[in-house]
Amino acid sequence: MYVCICRVVTQSRIRASIDAGASTVDEVTLECGAGGDCGSCRDEIQTMLDKHDASDCDHCPRAHRAASASATR
Ligand code: FES
Repeated sequence: MYVCICRVVTQSRIRASIDAGASTVDEVTLECGAGGDCGSCRDEIQTMLDKHDASDCDHCPRAHRAASASATR
């Protein structure tokens, strides 16, 4: 399913960017281009970021950052 029509970016491609460590809409845009044109898909990208559970992917840098932060507390 396409989320970003302007840049022709699919939901799975955006999810891959998030799994690779993108944690903001701007980082997703830098990584795969989604959201970098008219901006109408940026809310959907933010929703995907909000729903992402970093603990679902053991290779996810976001999960490792969260684990490191809690270990130092
Ligand atoms: S639909 Fe994504 S930038 Fe326009």
